[in-house]
Amino acid sequence: MKKLLVAMLVLALLVPSLSAMAVTVGFSQIGAESDWRVANTKSINEALEGAGFTVVFDDAQQQQPNQIRALRNFITQGVDYIVFTGVVTTGWDEVLQEVIDAEIPLILVDRFPDTELGDDYYVTLINSDFTEEGRRSGEWLVEYLKLLGRDGDDIKIVELQGTTGSQPAIERQTGFMDYIADFPNLEVIASQTGNFTSSEGQAVMETFLKAHPEIDVLYAHNDQMAIGAIDAIKAAGKVPGKDIIILSIDAVKAIFDEIVAGNANCTVECSPILGPQVAEIILTLEAGGTVEKHIRSIEYAYDTDGGVQYGEGLFTIKAADEIDNREF
Ligand code: AHR
Repeated sequence: MKKLLVAMLVLALLVPSLSAMAVTVGFSQIGAESDWRVANTKSINEALEGAGFTVVFDDAQQQQPNQIRALRNFITQGVDYIVFTGVVTTGWDEVLQEVIDAEIPLILVDRFPDTELGDDYYVTLINSDFTEEGRRSGEWLVEYLKLLGRDGDDIKIVELQGTTGSQPAIERQTGFMDYIADFPNLEVIASQTGNFTSSEGQAVMETFLKAHPEIDVLYAHNDQMAIGAIDAIKAAGKVPGKDIIILSIDAVKAIFDEIVAGNANCTVECSPILGPQVAEIILTLEAGGTVEKHIRSIEYAYDTDGGVQYGEGLFTIKAADEIDNREF
């Protein structure tokens, strides 16, 4: 935020009037499936508007055809920049080629599309390392089981995957499975999508619980599904956070409440606050500057007591110490 303010100040000195620039930004958002997504929308829209840009926002309700339509509308409207995150990884080549042909600078946020277009078609990518989030989740679990004295036990894990075909669902699974592969006593006994939503997370957890009475751990690709699953676990007469260890990704406020209440155990952070960086990039480009090709968020993990290793030299922060700083 500080960097954004400095960039705006420098520009205000260089450019007679920021508002005179009349820059329009089309923002194609996936949907509103999670607290993470809602916070991400707010962050980007507020930062762009705060920088004096006009935002044309589109919520695709998690449907790829809606996103393709939105991108085409942005081209027709002649926006100056496009900010884009795609619901799934594939199927974007044709429409993104149209963006290239229209010569509209493209800023990728959150998810990186899998295309044949090379690396030159976008200006920059701002996102998290989803594979690393999965790996960190696996490492946290291994270390936590040691603390519980359960590292020699056979541990049955169920996995709630994100939206099928989405980058975070693919990579959070890969990172987690790669890490736990060295621990034969850890077994994923069921894995199904909960589409990153609370309601689907709850419904899938209900079926997991009916089919597998012996679940030790829930690994959910986002907090929202874990929150739905906690309700299913309670309804099944089990104690979430104790009978079943709950581990998820995002670090939104609602999961902090659950961790502090003892209903969940750990969340690995994935920051939705990408707006200030997006605004700063456009301001820099407007001033004729250059920007980094790939910007990664700095992220932590939070759990009941803190101090559990979850990455190279990284240790969890106690959720109760952070909860008051969470705004989303
Ligand atoms: O792409 C980021 C993921 O999408 C977040 O983990 C999830 O909550 C969101 O819906």
